[in-house]
Amino acid sequence: MSVSQSVTVRVPAKVNVQLAVGAARPDGFHDLANVFLAVGLFDEVTVTPAAELRITCEGPDAGQVPLDGTNLAARAAVALAERYGRTPDVHIHIAKDIPVAGGMAGGSADGAGALVACDALWGTGASQVELLDICAELGSDVPFSLVGGAALGIGRGEKLTVLETGGTFHWVFAMAEGGLSTPAVFREFDRLAAVADSEIPAPVASPELLAALASGDPDALAATVSNDLQPAALSLFPALADTLAAGRAAGALTALVSGSGPTTAFLARDAVAARRIAEALSHSGTCRAVRVAAGPVPGASVL
Ligand code: C5P
Repeated sequence: MSVSQSVTVRVPAKVNVQLAVGAARPDGFHDLANVFLAVGLFDEVTVTPAAELRITCEGPDAGQVPLDGTNLAARAAVALAERYGRTPDVHIHIAKDIPVAGGMAGGSADGAGALVACDALWGTGASQVELLDICAELGSDVPFSLVGGAALGIGRGEKLTVLETGGTFHWVFAMAEGGLSTPAVFREFDRLAAVADSEIPAPVASPELLAALASGDPDALAATVSNDLQPAALSLFPALADTLAAGRAAGALTALVSGSGPTTAFLARDAVAARRIAEALSHSGTCRAVRVAAGPVPGASVL
């Protein structure tokens, strides 16, 4: 087999414009109303026939990426191979641009990317429904990495409804020094809820937020974004408050923690304002790196 049989898939990061979190379920997960927006920060996953499954990774955060069977990209290849009765004999190379452990679904992106790439390489002919099933087994955010655009995820976040968007939203993302573990942030959410001793309402998507997305109006979206994990992320990583304040001071329409963090997200009125906010944040001394990205963008796509 020749290298020309390689398949490369580009797959985006996400920001949660609403993350409503319910009480812990008996299985340890939390019911969510999770409004995802795919944004233009991408990993590229390339699969090439090989003697056996192996993973390599390049990029600024590559050193933090596990290169064993726990990597979601490896698990995706194994899951698809098992379903189609073949061996996952591929070299998976990840060109990583999405921050690692950042709350932007970088690991999920690689899982969805490897799944789509192996599906194309092996010509399995799996349906979208089958691929989404495998994604849901791999992780709560993986189905969204496959579909991209904008979507509401309920259940663990894996049951998706595609959402309309009326325009492009311009964002600035500030990467923090270090990462946060998603399970640790959910545990902190549970701890804070126990301390507050108040009833946690069932999570529901905000009609005002869905209308704002559909309108494409950044001011309307800024007025309606919310993240129930933000207090937990701030409790574990208090310095994020300084980053949020720096972005607000620089003119962001709103500032929030992205998913479980510690990446912070800043909504700008347009591309010019985004560049201005990014410039101010990069000189604020409150973050490791700053990126500008717009969304929605498509999900996992074969290049
Ligand atoms: O589904 P995924 O493997 O990405 O989830 C990682 C962890 O995040 C879970 O083990 C759980 O601790 C937490 N989680 C949760 N409720 C969700 C999604 C994730 O508690 N809906």
